[in-house]
Amino acid sequence: MQSAQTSFENIRKDFPILARTVRENKTLVYLDNASTTQKPNQVIDAINDYYRNHNANIHRAVYALAEEATELYEQTRDKVANFINVKNRDEIIFVRGTTEAINLVAYAWGRAHVKEGDIIVTTEYEHHSNIVPWQLLTQEKGAKIEYIGMDDNGELILDDLDKYLATGKVKLVTFSLMSNVLGTISDADAIVSKCKEAGVLTLIDGAQAVPHMKVDLDKLGCDFFAFSGHKMLGPTGIGILWVKKSVLETMNPFHGGGDMIREVHKYETTWNDLPYKFEAGTPNIADVIGLGAAIDYLSKIGMDNIRQHEIDLTTYALEKLSLVKGLHVYGTKDITKRGGVISFNFADVHPHDVAQIIDAEGIAVRSGHHCAQVLMERLNVAATSRASFYIYNTKEEVDKLINSLNKVAEVFKL
Ligand SMILES: Cc1ncc(COP(=O)(O)O)c(C=O)c1O
Repeated sequence: MQSAQTSFENIRKDFPILARTVRENKTLVYLDNASTTQKPNQVIDAINDYYRNHNANIHRAVYALAEEATELYEQTRDKVANFINVKNRDEIIFVRGTTEAINLVAYAWGRAHVKEGDIIVTTEYEHHSNIVPWQLLTQEKGAKIEYIGMDDNGELILDDLDKYLATGKVKLVTFSLMSNVLGTISDADAIVSKCKEAGVLTLIDGAQAVPHMKVDLDKLGCDFFAFSGHKMLGPTGIGILWVKKSVLETMNPFHGGGDMIREVHKYETTWNDLPYKFEAGTPNIADVIGLGAAIDYLSKIGMDNIRQHEIDLTTYALEKLSLVKGLHVYGTKDITKRGGVISFNFADVHPHDVAQIIDAEGIAVRSGHHCAQVLMERLNVAATSRASFYIYNTKEEVDKLINSLNKVAEVFKL
């Protein structure tokens, strides 16, 4: 692990896109990392190297290139297992991203195990990808979806969970480890232990957590865990579903096709070993390898250093934002309970207008509902502006954001 100072000083030069200008020759200030992150040369080069030197289909042929491609692909499975502290590499399934991972569980586990009258519990601050698949499943099965509420601090109300668990009808509790809008870090230990006591399975959406803090699945003790490569310096189109083996063994296949079978006859088929049973067809080989390079890159910096860097930036930003006229920041002020995602609104100013004004300064923030309309309803707003940080962001960039927000306050006479 490098010292935080050395690593963060040199990081920006690894990201070619950060050197470019946008709009009227403005240096790019990229603050939409909760949506997707930029890619370092190491990731771009790994993908490039695969296509230039090793491209072949995997698991199928004995010639040299195929062996090399298979080895590179499978190496990433080991890197992922190590990164999130999973002992059994066969529990790691490559998928397109968090969305596909959750849909896979809803389909391949849910359709076999959820029945009429059962309850799936999610939370008010979920991304649509951890709501809609459960709506589809519960509607099909005559089951119900219920929500753990959120208090005004942006934290989950765990009494709601107790209430649902007491019905004895809950089949699965699912929640994001970090909210993509408020940055709230869920109390996973409390939720998982309550569910375990009640004999209920848990699915954790780690899309916002895995890129930003050390995540230890062995410690978390959940049953399903999902995250996306593109939010952690990796390419788009690759993500991970982890499922505890005892649960994975009870699941039917998701997609049928090549590689997921052992034998196919006219009227019946037997399945390949885990995890291949859940990886039908030619996978996204190049981007799996790119994800491996991203994991190497993050590991070299150290996830605890990354978390500390974001605590420093977020603390600084929250302090400065509190001085901007007319600006309201959502979520908890307790830095131990939040990540580097900050949602805010100016009274009566539409977030799109805010984003447009600061875009003219080269600053990229997100405005909209952030695929979290249930949360928007809870906050009683249609949209928010959202700035989200990552390893390459600096205090100078936070200052630029604050200056441009002060301009917004001026323009709208707040
Ligand atoms: C908390 C959370 N869950 C799920 C997703 C969906 O991820 P993907 O679009 O990579 O499937 C996102 C993306 O923003 C997210 O922030």
